[in-house]
Amino acid sequence: MEREGRLAGSVAIVTGGARGIGRAIVERFVAEGAQVVAADLLADQLAEMDGISQRLVTVPLDVRSREDWARAVERCRTVFGPPNVLVNNAGVMLAGPIADTDGTAYRDSFDINVLGAVFGMQATLESMKERGGGSVIIVSSTAAMVGTPGLAPYAASKAANMSLAKSAAIELGPLGIRVNSLHPGGVQTPMSQSSLFDGFDQDAFYRRLPIPRIAQPHEITGAAVFLASDESGFATGSAFFVDGGQLAGPPL
Ligand SMILES: NC(=O)c1ccc[n+]([C@@H]2O[C@H](COP(=O)([O-])OP(=O)(O)OC[C@H]3O[C@@H](n4cnc5c(N)ncnc54)[C@H](O)[C@@H]3O)[C@@H](O)[C@H]2O)c1
Repeated sequence: MEREGRLAGSVAIVTGGARGIGRAIVERFVAEGAQVVAADLLADQLAEMDGISQRLVTVPLDVRSREDWARAVERCRTVFGPPNVLVNNAGVMLAGPIADTDGTAYRDSFDINVLGAVFGMQATLESMKERGGGSVIIVSSTAAMVGTPGLAPYAASKAANMSLAKSAAIELGPLGIRVNSLHPGGVQTPMSQSSLFDGFDQDAFYRRLPIPRIAQPHEITGAAVFLASDESGFATGSAFFVDGGQLAGPPL
């Protein structure tokens, strides 16, 4: 039977796919007809996802490990064939006031959020070339565009995500590989519920936005489907914001 959906025929690897935004993207991609490899550090959560769909396999992966990447891509190729979509979604939010950081939060943020995405592009490059092209989505944040006091390691790494997508788009364009960054605003996930926000009135913050609430993970998936599919075939090196209007400007 012919598969249907906006991603029919696509083979995608989604990192950080065990929970939060990544999990929602995995489920939406499967619903749109893609064959999907969900990769994450969280082996237990991945195990719970096994068997949900014949179009889904899970693979333990630390995005910092090139060996893990090689294993994940090999598994993808064996089960579904070469991937043509990569969603570099795995990320960590680490704090570090400028005045008293020892650098660890910066190193870890950049290792996971930035270098992890580079390793992902390296690991899938040959597969995408084989497929005649592909689409890479790097999940950044509104934090790429505005300062976030106390969270500079995170914000700086998210700005690096956006910049990385632009450089990669230029380098990989001749191979038919598009690279875009996707920038959610606040989304209700374990990350946004972390103790880093203790004492910060998130509700008051969201109430001031044009869309005055936090998003649910599924609300980010439409943009991911668009960027993964040929619907965005002329878009590369671009930054796409799904932020409830957070960056539209200050409220009156
Ligand atoms: N939640 C938000 O408000 C928000 C807003 C803007 C951007 N983002 C971005 O969206 C992405 C997903 O965030 P989320 O809110 O779903 O967070 P989350 O913490 O719920 O999920 C992140 C996932 O990444 C995985 N991960 C972390 N380090 C990893 C590593 N080294 N290797 C493999 N997997 C790893 C975690 O295990 C987890 O499953 C992140 O890149 C984040 O920066 C989130």
